[in-house]
Amino acid sequence: MIDYQPLYNTLLDAKADAWVKLLPQQLASAFDLTRHGTLAQWQTVIECLPKLTTAHRLLDTDAVQIGRSDDLPEADRIALEQQLKALHPWRKGPYSLFGINIDTEWRSDWKWDRLKDHITPLKHRLVLDVGCGNGYHCWRMLGAGAKMVIGIDPLLLNVMQFQLIRKLHGDAPVYVLPLGIEDMPYGLKAFDTVFSMGVLYHRRSPIDHLMELRDCLQPGGELVLETLVIDGGLGEVLLPEERYAKMRNVWFLPSCATLMSWLKRCGFNKIRLIDVTATHTEEQRSTEWMQFHSLKDFLSTENPQLTCEGLPAPKRAIIVANST
Ligand SMILES: C[S@@+](CC[C@H](N)C(=O)[O-])C[C@H]1O[C@@H](n2cnc3c(N)ncnc32)[C@H](O)[C@@H]1O
Repeated sequence: MIDYQPLYNTLLDAKADAWVKLLPQQLASAFDLTRHGTLAQWQTVIECLPKLTTAHRLLDTDAVQIGRSDDLPEADRIALEQQLKALHPWRKGPYSLFGINIDTEWRSDWKWDRLKDHITPLKHRLVLDVGCGNGYHCWRMLGAGAKMVIGIDPLLLNVMQFQLIRKLHGDAPVYVLPLGIEDMPYGLKAFDTVFSMGVLYHRRSPIDHLMELRDCLQPGGELVLETLVIDGGLGEVLLPEERYAKMRNVWFLPSCATLMSWLKRCGFNKIRLIDVTATHTEEQRSTEWMQFHSLKDFLSTENPQLTCEGLPAPKRAIIVANST
């Protein structure tokens, strides 16, 4: 069981009382076993984890590391590997847990490496990571010195993967809550830094998403936005007619110039483009820990610059901006 009291205390200090009032009910509703068929099974996996102790915790390395292989006997390690595999697919990572290397679908550390030297240092900052997946970047943010990191993600499997890792790590000022950005109360203005990475293109209204992110930030706070973009000038934007790279839930892919103009219109300033990178099939691929199809199966077989639908292949931009 996670003790949420330190989270509530920090939110009260940040004058986020409105959220503290809502959160117990939001958590009870999201973790209601009658609403999700597999949740009880995942919770049992976590409850059955043996009590493992280790002094080895590294959050500022490519793979988030908790425990060494010689911290537990071989039989226990085999059992732990089975428990981790019960939460397949593992998409974001990598992790190294008591000598077990979770080679996730994504090399999420590559994204972190692209942005870490371009953002305001996270030391002592209160951070929100919107659409945080299983929380890999939340651990990296904590490793960079954040006061507290709160990730939100509506997908319960992600939240349960996080809870398993947090149990191995032990208590720390990092939380992943089973919520979407739309569950955040209006007018919070509590966070020093807000990350939204890989979320904007899943939102039907990208402008509302930017407004919601701004609303979570303290005046002058920093937004780190990462999303799919297309080549092109101001005003250009792709709205796939059907699927994009086989995904049904992809909406707006702006050019960088268009995205920056959206941010300006939404009241951000000091808007800077820090990186644009085409996603490589080494960065997103099927592995033992994510055995479904991955990027190479979503690209055109004749021309890897295109998706299988004939649209521009995935390219991602990172933009940093401040709220006014
Ligand atoms: C492409 S993943 C990105 C994960 C991580 N931020 C990263 O950059 O590696 C998008 C995540 O957004 C989450 N998501 C989808 N809709 C959301 C919403 N309305 N609010 C917050 N997160 C959402 C998904 O569950 C998924 O974990």
